[in-house]
Amino acid sequence: VKTAHESYPVVVERGALARLHEFIPSKTGKVFLTATEDVWALHKDAVTSGLRDRDFVPLFFPGGEEHKRFSSVEKLAEQMVRLGGDRSSIIIAFGGGVVNDMSGFLAAIFMRGIPVIQIPTTLLAQVDAAVGGKTGVNLVAGKNLIGSFHPPLAVIVDPDLIRTLPPREYRAGLFEVIKHGIIASPDLFEAMTTRAADVIAQKDDIVDYMIGESVRIKSEVVSTDEKEGDLRRILNFGHTFGHALESETKYSRFLHGEAVAWGMNAATHLSRDVGLLSAAEAEAILRTIALYGPIPSVEGLRAENLEARLVADKKSIQGKVHFVLADRIGHVVVRSDVAPEAALRAIRAALQ
Ligand SMILES: NC(=O)c1ccc[n+]([C@@H]2O[C@H](COP(=O)([O-])OP(=O)(O)OC[C@H]3O[C@@H](n4cnc5c(N)ncnc54)[C@H](O)[C@@H]3O)[C@@H](O)[C@H]2O)c1
Ligand SMILES: [Zn+2]
Repeated sequence: VKTAHESYPVVVERGALARLHEFIPSKTGKVFLTATEDVWALHKDAVTSGLRDRDFVPLFFPGGEEHKRFSSVEKLAEQMVRLGGDRSSIIIAFGGGVVNDMSGFLAAIFMRGIPVIQIPTTLLAQVDAAVGGKTGVNLVAGKNLIGSFHPPLAVIVDPDLIRTLPPREYRAGLFEVIKHGIIASPDLFEAMTTRAADVIAQKDDIVDYMIGESVRIKSEVVSTDEKEGDLRRILNFGHTFGHALESETKYSRFLHGEAVAWGMNAATHLSRDVGLLSAAEAEAILRTIALYGPIPSVEGLRAENLEARLVADKKSIQGKVHFVLADRIGHVVVRSDVAPEAALRAIRAALQ
């Protein structure tokens, strides 16, 4: 991935964790490894052997989106100082998107910035969160409202790590893979359509392919456009609607990937409604998303409330909502001239 000043590698390789020690620069001081207790318990042997004989200090974040807060970051920073951390220290972030985001932010601000190596352990983090250098934590007012761009030293994606993932978390990550297919890769979309049984059974070859292809797409997009101009926006396909669903249900009913699945349904209805996408391709998208369902019920949700949330989304600038719409499978466009009634119709269709 190319960043404004340099570049970093994203390694996607089965067993890559065994090579972790190769990515630590020679003059590094203390090595801190940040994780949650559950992931540490499952994979501590693999990480420890990947670091060879290198000393390191494990530090623990409480898991869960509700703990993705500034106070958790501050607590770990205090511990790091007590344990002798300084400007030569490095952080290895070992966990899902929550740990990746918080650890990246901790690295960004600790002593005005130290390096971080990202090792994502959920499918969602491997195909999305760990690449791109966005870090941050939540405020009461909303998700990811404070943070910083802090490109990692390296991202190590080891598909073996996701074997222990709860099935629901795995399926939620698959929707971000489908998203990558819709925005940039007809082949990936086709594979998610025709090989659903293998995908669900986590066959190595298809898992490697979908992670590799997703990382390639995300890396290309963020390389060209690190700070979210129009190109980076295409990664938000399904997210404008999805974020509205997440906030309307107070982040408790849907996993992020599941909300994105619903959001992609709405975005697909909208793409067809405004005449960009053929009915046949819209059907194909809706069918493929449904292969990986069901997602939690949307019963009791009101279209008008969701529509109001769209406008409040932090990515809408001066009241204009930017919709990412598909004009064919494998290609999207960004539109800010969509009539509110059309968006409302799309929400209604997705709520059916
Ligand atoms: N920075 C970005 O560009 C970006 C992009 C997308 C999402 N995100 C962020 O990512 C977060 C969501 O990440 P997530 O979906 O990975 O959730 P998560 O980090 O909460 O992980 C989900 C659950 O799986 C557990 N887990 C992690 N790895 C495991 C493993 N290998 N085996 C068993 N259990 C494991 C975790 O402890 C947790 O309970 C959100 O906060 C979101 O804002 C960031
Ligand atoms: Zn997402």
